[in-house]
Amino acid sequence: LACFEPRLSKVVDLIFDKIIRQLFGNDISLPGNITQPCQNTQHGDFQCNAAMPTFAYLKKQQGSSSEYKSPQDVAQAIVQSVGSEHPILMDLQVNGPGFVLCRLQPTYLEQHINGWLSAGKLPFPPISQNETCVVDFSSPNIAKEMHVGHLRSTIIGESVCRVLEAAGHYVHRVNHVGDWGTQFGMLIQYLKEEYPHVIDQDNDGTLPNISDLTEFYKNAKARFDADADFKKTSQTNVVELQSGDPQCLKIWKMLCDVSRLEFEKVYQRLDVNVKECGESFYNPKIPAVIEEFEKAGRLSIEEGGAKCVFVEGMKVPLMLQKSDGGYGYDSTDMAALKYRLFELKADRIIAITDLGQNDHFKLVFAGGKEIGWLQGGQRLKHIGFGTVNGEDGKRFKTRSGETVRLVDLLDESVSRMESKLRERIQEGKANITEEEVHEVAEAIGYGAVKYYDLRRNPTSSYKFSYDEMLSTSGDTAVYLLYARVRLESIAAKAKAEFNVDVEDLLRHQHPIKITHPSERNLVLHLQKYADVMEQTLDDLYPYHICDYVYKLANAASEFVTKCRVLGDPEMSNRLLLCHATTLAMHQCFDLLGIRHIKRI
Ligand code: ARG
Repeated sequence: LACFEPRLSKVVDLIFDKIIRQLFGNDISLPGNITQPCQNTQHGDFQCNAAMPTFAYLKKQQGSSSEYKSPQDVAQAIVQSVGSEHPILMDLQVNGPGFVLCRLQPTYLEQHINGWLSAGKLPFPPISQNETCVVDFSSPNIAKEMHVGHLRSTIIGESVCRVLEAAGHYVHRVNHVGDWGTQFGMLIQYLKEEYPHVIDQDNDGTLPNISDLTEFYKNAKARFDADADFKKTSQTNVVELQSGDPQCLKIWKMLCDVSRLEFEKVYQRLDVNVKECGESFYNPKIPAVIEEFEKAGRLSIEEGGAKCVFVEGMKVPLMLQKSDGGYGYDSTDMAALKYRLFELKADRIIAITDLGQNDHFKLVFAGGKEIGWLQGGQRLKHIGFGTVNGEDGKRFKTRSGETVRLVDLLDESVSRMESKLRERIQEGKANITEEEVHEVAEAIGYGAVKYYDLRRNPTSSYKFSYDEMLSTSGDTAVYLLYARVRLESIAAKAKAEFNVDVEDLLRHQHPIKITHPSERNLVLHLQKYADVMEQTLDDLYPYHICDYVYKLANAASEFVTKCRVLGDPEMSNRLLLCHATTLAMHQCFDLLGIRHIKRI
């Protein structure tokens, strides 16, 4: 077991569990996790907390006849039973009311790391079954610009997909774009009036040349609000669109296509892969959902004719059909839920939007549960995120008070990074040429924006600060990318100046040996990878990975400061430690969607 189980916490847990059962009998019931990593690593690597519940159990079974008079006695017995020659645990001692502290044997840690080095990757925790997951993310609205909120959804969603896929699950990456609804009435009308030539019969697919869709949307809205006739025809368009009028459909599709091209540019820049399945897709599936609720006797008809479902414990009802017969956000999401559960056969569904939609998703999920759609034990989750504010702490706006366009924000990050890199080139500190500046600046600039978001709990709001985000020190992607490049450059020097090639060491399976406390500290941190992934697979918060990779970079930096690598008798060994670290960083960057750079 110990060789195949990648989660250290699990290994330690199982060892203590077995020992306690050997000592006190198989019938004892213990709490779920009897061990935990030590907060303060001065004391030990892990701590077992089982002596207290074991003592309580013995007292209940044997009363005062028990030979154990306190939890400390029990802890002492556990320590003795492990003994001093255990292959995995060492340095056991009793602490406080009965905690058992321990450390892991260096040989065991070495064996684990050597295993990864020959496999060429760090192991994920084993999964009990391959699940089908739906991740509903990004999901901007047609004819409106993507804003920073969509950026958060896009960045978090992409990372969540990558984590699930890396564990071996199948993921439907769904872009639930807002491509349906009454706003299309006015957009269609405005297009008819402003771009008459594109809606000609014989136009075989040329899209209207709308350079700025937000502008287009705003103008259409202004016309809609000011002109009663325009408003009226717009409303007729909605009805026509919904009944499948070919001209309205054609214009609608054009608008979607124009938007799509814009969205696609952002996805390409950010290496995001998401497949569109927008609101319109579910429209024909809504009547069956309403019927299902009706048959179950769950539908309430409100005054005016709206069809609602009152769900237990929820303040507002699900609105499946409005009084004018139209369908809304609730209707679509109920149809989407049903489709994902029964057609896509999802075991797990995750929707990622701003926090403001928390109640909406609670309601939709509770509605699905009440109608009996969740009997297969499927898991549903909404990840809600906070707002992104400007440096003044207020909502993110441009100087003229407009919402910031996503593309401008990404451009800004890249261009600031370009200037920084050019400065470094001028100072003679850089390892790249002028021709490479743009590509490297893109990798770092986009990586920085992503990491700045991912490193925190999504529910928190944050200030968008380029200075902080692009800082070379602190918890930033820039710091991490530099840290990685530094490790790579050590390996390059070893090859060039000492003729020691990491690839050769790997090929010959040169084993890692732990000889220094900083090495041990680094290795122990490296080993937490599988535990961190398990946690992330559970709650789907990528900040665990950020936290891990940041601490790893710190441990590595301490290691290279305290332990000489180049020219040291331990050079080969230490080069492999550097290599194991870059391997871990590489995998984390992949999961976070951060591009790799070899040189800066
Ligand atoms: N289009 C929505 C918005 O911009 C997000 C949609 C999220 N997904 C969903 N199934 N409702 O806020």
